[in-house]
Amino acid sequence: MRKIIITGAGGYIGSVACDLFLKKGFNIVALDNFSRGFKSPLEFLKKKYGEDRLKVYEIDLAEDDIGAVFEAEQNIEAVVHYGALCSVNESVLHPELYEKNNVIGSQRLIKAIKQAGVDKIIFSSTCAVYGNAKEMSITEDASTLPVNPYGESKLKIEEEIKNSGLIYVILRYFNVCGATDEGDIGDSKKPSVHLMQNAVRGVLGIEPFFLTCPTVDTPDHTPIRDYVNVVDLNEAHLLALLYLFAGGESEVINLGTGTGNSVLSIIKQVEEITGAIIEKKTTQARVGEYPRAVADIKKAGSILKWQPKRSLSDSVNSLVKWYTSHPHGWDS
Ligand SMILES: NC(=O)c1ccc[n+]([C@@H]2O[C@H](COP(=O)([O-])OP(=O)(O)OC[C@H]3O[C@@H](n4cnc5c(N)ncnc54)[C@H](O)[C@@H]3O)[C@@H](O)[C@H]2O)c1
Repeated sequence: MRKIIITGAGGYIGSVACDLFLKKGFNIVALDNFSRGFKSPLEFLKKKYGEDRLKVYEIDLAEDDIGAVFEAEQNIEAVVHYGALCSVNESVLHPELYEKNNVIGSQRLIKAIKQAGVDKIIFSSTCAVYGNAKEMSITEDASTLPVNPYGESKLKIEEEIKNSGLIYVILRYFNVCGATDEGDIGDSKKPSVHLMQNAVRGVLGIEPFFLTCPTVDTPDHTPIRDYVNVVDLNEAHLLALLYLFAGGESEVINLGTGTGNSVLSIIKQVEEITGAIIEKKTTQARVGEYPRAVADIKKAGSILKWQPKRSLSDSVNSLVKWYTSHPHGWDS
């Protein structure tokens, strides 16, 4: 059985990843400092797949001894690195936090990976590295000009990985949405920064829905983004890992759907799918945002043989299941 490390395993995408990788027969060593993530999904997964298949280490990548994990856990074959702070708005207010947590944390992780003799990494990057791209759909060759410290921190980590000698797949995600298909694992960010998640909570009457987007130069004046389902996204990580195990070369690959939706269009679709009306309140606009980000995903298709399978409606329905059973997400 292959054994891998997943960092940020207690977070939204990382916990869904653990579920998928365990389902596919991997053993997982989960690292998280639980600053933003939760222990409950990992406890849930231990019960689902067995204690021996999922080891959990509470560890801060930016401060603690990562080498000790590799010493305790022999035969790690790769690292899938999701662990990071990822709020654009917060990064503008506290750029130093993003430098320390994301950049220094990743530098320390890379060093520990190399010292342990492991040579493969899959990295969670973001479309924020492109910044305010001019292209209608953004290819991996587009210029990287991040417009916020979050995007800058991710671009710096990409460079560290490229220069590290590790074999890598850097995955640049666009906007991630949805929960597991069964709705048993999902996002619990407090406060949530994800539009579709918040819209579904608004529909279910769990929390008031606030429009937080700035006015931008798009047809309805709200930002256009590319919303990719979290299980589809993690299936691409699995394919990326299998690609590296099969001897594939290092690559940078976008993960999205190739389709853009404005904020208002997402709200309308959530209303149509659920048959409910969202009461929209406005509040202070987020900072560090840009008008449009839609992925060109041909490279993911040609190299990883990956295509997103789940529709927007699938994502909304999975969120309805998730928030119906966990109105406020994981509580610990
Ligand atoms: N959610 C999105 O739409 C999106 C889009 C693009 C990229 N990403 C990237 O995907 C990854 C996961 O995002 P998410 O939405 O699951 O976020 P999340 O906040 O739910 O999960 C991140 C996890 O990393 C952990 N973490 C943070 N700093 C750490 C540190 N120093 N040491 C150990 N653990 C640490 C947190 O506690 C949390 O559990 C991030 O790297 C993010 O930048 C997310």
